[in-house]
Amino acid sequence: MVQPLGKVYLVGAGPGDPGLFTLKGKALLEHADVVVYDALVSPQILAMISPKAEAINAGKRRGRHSMLQEDTTQLLIEKAQTHAVVVRLKGGDPFVFGRGGEEMEDLVKAGVPVEVVPGITSGVAAPAYAGIPLTHRGYSSSVTFVTGHESVGKYRPTVNWEAIAQSSETIVIYMGVHNLAAITEQLHRGGLPLETPIALVRWGTRPDQQELVGTLATIAQQVQDTGFDAPAIAVIGKVVNLQATLAASRPQLL
Ligand SMILES: C[S@@+](CC[C@H](N)C(=O)[O-])C[C@H]1O[C@@H](n2cnc3c(N)ncnc32)[C@H](O)[C@@H]1O
Repeated sequence: MVQPLGKVYLVGAGPGDPGLFTLKGKALLEHADVVVYDALVSPQILAMISPKAEAINAGKRRGRHSMLQEDTTQLLIEKAQTHAVVVRLKGGDPFVFGRGGEEMEDLVKAGVPVEVVPGITSGVAAPAYAGIPLTHRGYSSSVTFVTGHESVGKYRPTVNWEAIAQSSETIVIYMGVHNLAAITEQLHRGGLPLETPIALVRWGTRPDQQELVGTLATIAQQVQDTGFDAPAIAVIGKVVNLQATLAASRPQLL
């Protein structure tokens, strides 16, 4: 056990639009001594970090690991021994496919005080900024949030796509762009019709937000043809059709 001087705050930075960042998160960035941040945190939110703070990039993007998970946790433990306010800043919400749970467990085991500050997850915000509500009384009364990143199967139980196809009217997939061919095939095997609409939203809530809309049958080929890339959220289900009516009233970026 260490003798910590300070506390680690696991802060969700939200999906990008600085207007979606919490007041609590902003106050912590302004008072932080150290900020350890991830790759998907937007530049406008990084600009809120106190100039007096030490800012450390622990960013990880697909195939480009800049810091190992164990090293990041060790760094947080060390910084909490010498600094009062240590912020671990993560894209979206720290507890939604953000490894926040694992980091918090390790800090608690090391005797370091730690607190989570939730953020708006991209799986909710990116569809909203594309004009897609995840539930709607006419079309969907259930939503599943799921990872499409299969190499993490080592840590999580394998996703049962066929069961999801049968149990959820809206499916929101994180990290799924590179596995769409396999995912759509399994969803179809589970009973989803090939004409089921699907929307991909890349860099949701940011000025460079991009969208690609298709069906279960077409989307994997569309991704190949257009070179559409991560980071993106995939939304599957009848709610995607509402985009035609709602997209004209999209939120304005702050
Ligand atoms: C490691 S997960 C982190 C999720 C994050 N904790 C959250 O709550 O949004 C990374 C994935 O989140 C999704 N993502 C994060 N930010 C996004 C954004 N602004 N637009 C679309 N997808 C985003 C993408 O699927 C990306 O591959």
